[in-house]
Amino acid sequence: MNCRRESAVSGSAKTPLRGLDYLDKTVYNIGMNILKSGIPDNRPILVEWQERYSVGIPKIDEQHKELLRLTNELYASCLKDNDEEEKAHFKKTISALVNYVSEHFAAEERLLKRVDYPEYAAHRSEHTGFVKKVLEQVTEFNEGKNFAPNSFVRYLKDWILGHIAVSDKRYSEYIFALKKQGKI
Ligand SMILES: [Fe+2]
Repeated sequence: MNCRRESAVSGSAKTPLRGLDYLDKTVYNIGMNILKSGIPDNRPILVEWQERYSVGIPKIDEQHKELLRLTNELYASCLKDNDEEEKAHFKKTISALVNYVSEHFAAEERLLKRVDYPEYAAHRSEHTGFVKKVLEQVTEFNEGKNFAPNSFVRYLKDWILGHIAVSDKRYSEYIFALKKQGKI
């Protein structure tokens, strides 16, 4: 695995970088320079949960935290070069992430159905698109071709944070409005 090489960041046409990655790259490079200077690797993290990511629904927040934890686990794992044990760990973590994403999306969709969320179909299709993309990448990883761990991990982080910030916040506002009106 290799999360360190810049070529891996820009090497995949299928997983284009988003704007924020520019800033991330700088922070990442600083982190890498510290790592290369000999400070022991204590499972570095790519993304930290912040209160502003909260959608105000504790069960959903906990699930989002777990998604970020798994993303960090993949990141830490792919920083280890040519380590068979870490490769196996990466593979196991990807599979755990795929399973957890499915569980989480199903839970969210049940919630949105229950409150008759008007944007249910659009929200569900965002989930479906993400799962499709992740599964494509997992297939490429399993077949050992055209897979850039760095881009993949950053894609996960960007998608999860972007989805929480926009789409998940939108349904949470809807749910809280219903609560305020005493409708649920
Ligand atoms: Fe969602």
